[in-house]
Amino acid sequence: MSASPKSNGSAHATPVELVRRREPVQIGLRPASQLGKSDLLVLGVYSDGSLPRAAEPFNAALDGRLTELAKQADLPKKVGETLLVYYASGDTARRVLLLSLGPRNEFDGKAYHKALASAAQALASSSTRSVDIPLLDVSDAEHSTAWRVQQASRALADGYYKFAAPLFASKGAQQDATATPQLCLLVEESITPELEHAARSGRAIAEGMALTKDLGNLPGNVCNPGYLADAARALGKEFGFPVEVLEREDMAKLGMESALSVGKASAEPCRFIVMKYFGSEAEEKPIVLVGKGVTFDTGGVSLKPGDDLDMMKYDMCGAASVFGALKMVARLALPINVIGIIGAVENMPGGRASRPGDVVRSMSGQTIEILNTDAEGRLVLCDALTYAERFQPAFVIDIATLTGACVIALGAQTSGLFANDDALADELLQCGTDTGDRAWRMPLWDEYQEQLKSNFADMSNLGGRPAGAVTAACFLSRFTKGYRWAHLDIAGTASVGGERKGATGRPVPLLSEFLLKRAEQPRARG
Ligand code: BES
Ligand code: MN
Ligand code: ZN
Repeated sequence: MSASPKSNGSAHATPVELVRRREPVQIGLRPASQLGKSDLLVLGVYSDGSLPRAAEPFNAALDGRLTELAKQADLPKKVGETLLVYYASGDTARRVLLLSLGPRNEFDGKAYHKALASAAQALASSSTRSVDIPLLDVSDAEHSTAWRVQQASRALADGYYKFAAPLFASKGAQQDATATPQLCLLVEESITPELEHAARSGRAIAEGMALTKDLGNLPGNVCNPGYLADAARALGKEFGFPVEVLEREDMAKLGMESALSVGKASAEPCRFIVMKYFGSEAEEKPIVLVGKGVTFDTGGVSLKPGDDLDMMKYDMCGAASVFGALKMVARLALPINVIGIIGAVENMPGGRASRPGDVVRSMSGQTIEILNTDAEGRLVLCDALTYAERFQPAFVIDIATLTGACVIALGAQTSGLFANDDALADELLQCGTDTGDRAWRMPLWDEYQEQLKSNFADMSNLGGRPAGAVTAACFLSRFTKGYRWAHLDIAGTASVGGERKGATGRPVPLLSEFLLKRAEQPRARG
C-alpha cells in the first residue's frame, strides 16, 4: 500500500491543475417582493399568457407590462424555447429572456427540468453578468418549493459547465476572461434555511457533476489508472478524508486475479482506489459506491471494431460518478458515511493480455472462464464488490458503463437498474424520477443465470447476445449475496456522441438525491 503520492510516469500536470473551469456561477436566493436590478430577467410564460407567481411583484411594479410583453412577443410555443426581448425601463431589467412553459396545468416536474435546462443553455451562451430568475410554478402538488429551488439551482449551475483543459488549448490562445455570472432565484415566499440548503445542494450536485464530466472528458492518454488515483488523493486532500490506493502487488495479495487480468497488457498499471468519507459516527454502516474505472476499453484480444472507439475513453464514467457523488457529499458535509471504491484499469490487447478461454480465480474464490476479453467491466467489478463486504455496508451501489445491450434496451434516456432488494430499487427509481435522471428496473431472475454456465469454471464472463445487460448483472449478483445491492448500467446515459460529444454527469443527480435523502433521515438509517 502506498501512502505517498506517486507519479504514474506520464508527463502531465496534477489533477487539480489540469482542468480549469471558469469560476462556478453564483446562485443566490431572494424573496420575489424584493425588486432588484439585474442585466437580465428570465421570465417564464405559460401558454395562456400567465406568469409564475414569483414574477408578479415585478409585473405589478411595472403596471402589468410584463404580461403585455409576454402576450405581444412571438414566443415559440414548445416548452423550453426562449426569446430574448429588450425592454425600455429605467429601473428594472433591460433585457428579458422569455421562456415558453406550455399549458400551466401540464407544467409538471418533467417539463420543469426541460425548461430550466434550456434556459441554462441560453444563459450560458450569452455573456450576461447578472440574472434574475423568478421561480417557475409546477402543476403537480408533490413538488415543494425546496424541490423547485434545488432543481433550478442544479440545472442552472450545470448549464454553465464547460470542459476547459489548459493542457489542450493551442499555444497563445486567449484565456476566457468573462466575469463570474451572478444568478438569483426569486421565490414567492420568504427565504427559510430549508430553501438555502436546497440552493446549496443544487450547486453542490452541479459541482459534483462537473468533476464527473471533467474526468470523463479527459482523454485516455491523460486520465489513466494512475491519474484516477491522483485525482482521488487530491479530492481527499481537499476535503480531509483518507484515500487508500492499492497497487498491483496489494491487489494480488488480496487475490484479485479477476480484476488484475483486465489490466495485464496495459503499460499503465492498475490501481484499486478506496475513498472513505465519514460524516457520521464510525459505527454507522456506510453506503458503498463502487465504480467501473476502465480508463480505456479496446476490448482486449476480443478487440472492438474501430468505429467510434474514441468513445471508450468514457468507460470510466461509473468511477467518475463516484467521484462526483463523493464531492457533493463532502462539499455539503453530509452526516452520513460513504465509501467510494474504484477499480481503475486499462483494457489493452498485447502479449501479456488475457486470452479467450483463460480461467481466473476471483477474490471471492469463485472461478471465471474469460470467454470474451471485452466483457471486462464485470471482471473488475466482481473483485471490488467482494472487497466491499469488509465495510459491512448498509447498501452497495455499483455504477458502470457495463453493456452495449443496455443501450439497445433503454437508449440514451434511461439507466438500467438491477437490485437484490426491492426497497432499495424503489428508492433509487424514485430518486431518478425526482431529479429527471431516470432509471428503469430490469430483472435479475434465476432463469438468466443459466446463460453464464461454463464447462471449465464456476461461471463464464459471457452470457451471449440475448438479455446481455441482464446476464452481466446476473454475473455481478454472484458476488453481492452478503448485502443489499443495486447496480446501475449507465452505458447509454453517461456520455453522448456526435457533435455534442461529452460526458453528461449522470447518474450523479440520482445518486446525490439518494444520499441527500439518507442524510435527512434521523439515525436508524439503512
Ligand atoms: N464498455 C463496454 C460497454 C459499452 C458499450 C459502454 C457501448 C458504452 C457504450 C463493455 O465493456 C463491453 O464491451 N461490453 C460488451 C459485453 C459483451 C462482450 C458481452 C458489449 O456490450 O458488447
Ligand atoms: Mn468491454
Ligand atoms: Zn468496458
